[in-house]
Amino acid sequence: MSNGFSLSDALPASNNPNPSAPPPQGWPSWGNQPPAPGGFPAYPGPPGTYPGSPAAPGTYPGAPGPYPGAPGPYPGAPGPYPGAPGPYPGAPGTFPGGPAGQGPYPGAPAGPGPYPGGPAPPLKVPFELPLQAGLVPRMLITITGTVNPNPSRFSLDFKKGNDIAFHFNPRFTEENRKVIVCNSMFQNNWGKEERTAPRFPFEAGKPFKLQILCEVDHFKVAVNDAHLLQYSFREKKLNEITKLCIAGDVTLTSVTPTMI
Ligand code: GAL
Repeated sequence: MSNGFSLSDALPASNNPNPSAPPPQGWPSWGNQPPAPGGFPAYPGPPGTYPGSPAAPGTYPGAPGPYPGAPGPYPGAPGPYPGAPGPYPGAPGTFPGGPAGQGPYPGAPAGPGPYPGGPAPPLKVPFELPLQAGLVPRMLITITGTVNPNPSRFSLDFKKGNDIAFHFNPRFTEENRKVIVCNSMFQNNWGKEERTAPRFPFEAGKPFKLQILCEVDHFKVAVNDAHLLQYSFREKKLNEITKLCIAGDVTLTSVTPTMI
């Protein structure tokens, strides 16, 4: 359900005097906009970005404007680099390249140097992103990847211990229909499912960008720069939601937490 709410209603306007600088928030104006004409062009692989440029806005062909969701490293970067803008204090680092401390994948060039043209090495699925200080309003998590061929389902789980504060679960084949199921699980019991997403933006074999923004009392979810749904918090102790798990029929390219 669209609630007619745009993030720009909640956040101060940009005070960035440089219009060619990356957007101050890696976030589209969600909730009240039609999808971009022509849909979302093939992503990842914005050719406008370049290695070693943490601030590159990174446009992609056919984009309606600067690509708004890539404050971190371009997809395909060999690994985390120092000085990336935006990670919240205590952030575990940005991906691809795996969790901080894990180091680049074997055979990768050392350090943040140019990646020689190949595709980004996929992250391992199931994937786990530790959120050391837990969630906090304005934390944005940007996930890029590709849906596997013949998918059944995939899921994102924001976890507080064994509880799942937010389960986001696209299902491709439920009674031959596609549906997005959102729910929470407390003490091993699932709550009431929310199945109100107005569309199903994922396609077998296609790349996607999925963004989850933690707001004050709900999560907002956008796919390919278009608002999809929101989910009101059932678990309110945000600081205890310290893990994001991604599992199922997707190949992951990058998972990047930032603050907007
Ligand atoms: C169950 C399913 C879980 C989870 C849950 C959400 O049927 O087994 O994985 O998706 O629904 O309500």
